[in-house]
Amino acid sequence: MPIRIEEVTYQYQLNTPFERTALRDVNVTIPSGALVAFLGHTGSGKSTLVQHMNGLLRPTKGRVVVDDLIVTPIRSRRDKKQNLLPLRRRVGLVFQYPEHQLFEETVERDVMFGPRNFGATEAEAKERAHEALRLVGLDESLWERSPFDLSGGQMRRVAIAGVLASRPDVLIVDEPTAGLDPIGRRDMLSLFKRLREELNLTLILVSHDMDDVLAYAERVVVMEKGQVAFDGNPFELFQDESLVRELQLDIPHVLRLARDVAPAFGVTEVPFVRTETELADWIASQIEGGVS
Ligand SMILES: Nc1ncnc2c1ncn2[C@@H]1O[C@H](COP(=O)(O)OP(=O)(O)OP(=O)(O)O)[C@@H](O)[C@H]1O
Ligand SMILES: [Mg+2]
Repeated sequence: MPIRIEEVTYQYQLNTPFERTALRDVNVTIPSGALVAFLGHTGSGKSTLVQHMNGLLRPTKGRVVVDDLIVTPIRSRRDKKQNLLPLRRRVGLVFQYPEHQLFEETVERDVMFGPRNFGATEAEAKERAHEALRLVGLDESLWERSPFDLSGGQMRRVAIAGVLASRPDVLIVDEPTAGLDPIGRRDMLSLFKRLREELNLTLILVSHDMDDVLAYAERVVVMEKGQVAFDGNPFELFQDESLVRELQLDIPHVLRLARDVAPAFGVTEVPFVRTETELADWIASQIEGGVS
């Protein structure tokens, strides 16, 4: 299910003294099955943009096309009544602060909310909730607990399960690894990888973490002041130091290391590596190459 953002401009608090343009003529197309990361400074418009992808926000100008559904600005009462429920079911969005998304008394009831809202019976909703909770690896002993008693990482898993329970085609996660320790981060990213493979999901990640983006994303879109400043391959972006500087990003840790060790092997270009393991393999291959 491709998502097309066409010439989208979005203004918060339109026609008030607090009016603020968060997106300006944005064009982005996300094909089915893609794994795309959105990067950019705080306030650059990432969260605003992803909230357009499931109809949570509607453009001030332009349109959003998802499959046969077209979301346009609200100009009339009829526009206002457009039923966006099918879009919300098919494009699941996990908010930047998942605790804002949780509200039921127990984990199980929280995860059941989506399917019930989309018309499933109580029994079906329960079955889907269990399926989703298993998918995200949340231990059954926690299902009757209040979601607010859980750790940050577990709460995030509940919020993800809550979205998956509606069986979406697209999963959008806004800053899924923020505030997690390195192991929590790695676990979260491997969860997405597994979900994508098992469920054939299109995956959209919003991130601040350059290393995560380099290691996991197939494509990166960099936002700057409400506009798309770069759209392409993560390695191409990060190996270009002047571009990275221009976009006010950082070079991933692993590429810094790669850049520093490469000259020792007589290599002037940054080697193509995305993870520490790949860098270690590259170094090993250089050493073996030298010996033979
Ligand atoms: N509810 C709101 N009302 C008014 N302005 C808002 C609102 N939410 C966001 N903005 C403004 O819109 C712009 C884009 O914000 P947005 O949250 O989309 O950025 P972001 O890239 O997600 O930032 P962050 O990295 O901090 O999450 C910012 O200038 C922000 O101050
Ligand atoms: Mg944000």
